[in-house]
Amino acid sequence: MLVNKAIFPVAGLGTRFLPATKAQPKEMLPVVDEPLIQYAVAEAYAAGMREMIFVTGRHKRPIEDHFDMTLELEVALEQAGKDDLLKVVRSVKPDDMECIYVRQPQALGLGHAVLCAKRLVGSQPFAVLLADDLMVGDPPVLKQMVDQFEQRRASIVAVQEVPAEQTRRYGIVVGTPVSDRLIDMTGIIEKPAPEDAPSRLGVAGRYILTPGVFDEIESQPRGVGGEIQLTDGISALLRREKVFAYRYEGKRYDCGSKEGFLQANVELALAHPELGPGFREFLRGLDIFDRAND
Ligand code: UTP
Repeated sequence: MLVNKAIFPVAGLGTRFLPATKAQPKEMLPVVDEPLIQYAVAEAYAAGMREMIFVTGRHKRPIEDHFDMTLELEVALEQAGKDDLLKVVRSVKPDDMECIYVRQPQALGLGHAVLCAKRLVGSQPFAVLLADDLMVGDPPVLKQMVDQFEQRRASIVAVQEVPAEQTRRYGIVVGTPVSDRLIDMTGIIEKPAPEDAPSRLGVAGRYILTPGVFDEIESQPRGVGGEIQLTDGISALLRREKVFAYRYEGKRYDCGSKEGFLQANVELALAHPELGPGFREFLRGLDIFDRAND
């Protein structure tokens, strides 16, 4: 297995989701019945990764607790004969999955958060997943990227077309297409104004990176917003190594924003095998579409 380690930077302040994130991590906000972080961890697991590295900060204890064993709960469910629920609880952390936590003392930016995992990653390629980008894909988006990595043996950054007026929210990449979905990157810039954006290909929160990126991040000055940016590290890396952008197949919900989070809840609830049919009926009963035309 080439890519076994996944970094989950979860030390951000989550200001876009206040007040919900005042005292709890945004990564623990549930979409339907699972916290955001669990979707991201499951995606990394499905892509073959077994070593999950969480870069945490203040108020992030619930994430550690979520992936820990909950003995009292398991005993209670066992005694009550609730085998289905016991299975659900145990599936959160499969036995062959290891969770490691490292602290980012100050939220100095995504690049800095990734750098906090440098010693734990060592000299292997690794993945980075931002749990607030909830990705739905079949195969899972990170698995698609691992397949690309295995062919190209170079860093892969997930991208999608974004509306021209939204380039300020994304890292924007530019490069030469090499296939239907793959672009040989020649540049990447963080949050450009629409008139400065070299393309409309925005970075989504999934990366597979070679360890060379750590040195590049380390030598970067602070970037946009005074933060140490992962984008700037990748920009320096692609002057030394090939880096590809990959237009993933699937859908992304920006669950760091309230709108994206609501959309994810509605769509995933509709797709849920048990809840879906009833929820669909509920939405029909709201009669919202007729009233909107009044
Ligand atoms: P965001 O840009 O979404 O920042 O970070 P944020 O602080 O989480 O949220 P807002 O913008 O204030 O609402 C993208 C990812 O990088 C992590 C976040 O936890 C999130 O997963 N991050 C960001 C860190 O781990 N450390 C940082 O210093 C910054």
